[in-house]
Amino acid sequence: MTDDSVAPVLTIDGPTASGKGTLARRVAQALGFHYLDSGAIYRAYALFAEEQQLNPEMAQADPALAHALALNLPLRFHADGIMLGDREVSEALRAERIGNLASEFSALPEVRAALLARQRAFRSAPGLVADGRDMGTVVFPEACLKVFLVAALESRAKRRTKQLIEKGFSATLESVLANLRKRDARDQSRSVAPLEAAPEARLLDGTTLSIEDSVEQVLQWWAAVGGRNIPRSPASPDQHLRAPDGTSPSGFQQPNGSRRSSLPPSQARR
Ligand code: C5P
Repeated sequence: MTDDSVAPVLTIDGPTASGKGTLARRVAQALGFHYLDSGAIYRAYALFAEEQQLNPEMAQADPALAHALALNLPLRFHADGIMLGDREVSEALRAERIGNLASEFSALPEVRAALLARQRAFRSAPGLVADGRDMGTVVFPEACLKVFLVAALESRAKRRTKQLIEKGFSATLESVLANLRKRDARDQSRSVAPLEAAPEARLLDGTTLSIEDSVEQVLQWWAAVGGRNIPRSPASPDQHLRAPDGTSPSGFQQPNGSRRSSLPPSQARR
């Protein structure tokens, strides 16, 4: 019998519109691994919360409610799409408005804590490629290989504008640029699981590499690490995630007690 809890994990973190979804999907396909788009979970939460008349301010004022809603998120991924209750929502989740709402809700520790087990449940044999903001730092700290994808703001904005227009949403480069700046700032400055590279992450610059070369580079790194996960340290990486009773610390600390640096990481290796 295969033990899913030891299935190898490869994480790809990075800011929005950096191309990490495309990269992660292609790497998962090349390795024959499962794929987790953790952003879609936060986006689905935002859509669901909105439908339940919960806005980010209300969630902040009533974290127990926000937590309960996240625990009961009626979300299912299947081969052809993403179901929220009995509705297919893959397209609806891609709206910029939902991405922004997701960014606001995801700053709440209670929401993050409630969605943690759901993300970890994706880990199964023969392996998992997970993309997001905190895959290597919080969700899968023991991952065999951690990649942090960066790309110049301009090229990310162009990519996002194109994606939005292709999906039938209206967007201008200026509005997308302004929005990405805001979203980066919020994702990097939140007190829990901020967007940042794990100290051991390999830095990949998607501005200068084609998608094919990026996939190739990640596969080479993967071959070099031999697909073995890092043994988990005794200190729980979840300790910063506060339960609704607010008992655990709110800051994400390095083992030496210092706050992790924000994007881009000076320690990241190429
Ligand atoms: O990656 P994507 O743009 O779909 O994510 C939407 C939002 O969800 C992000 O701006 C971020 O705030 C949040 N998110 C997160 N942690 C993740 C993935 C996404 O906080 N692992």
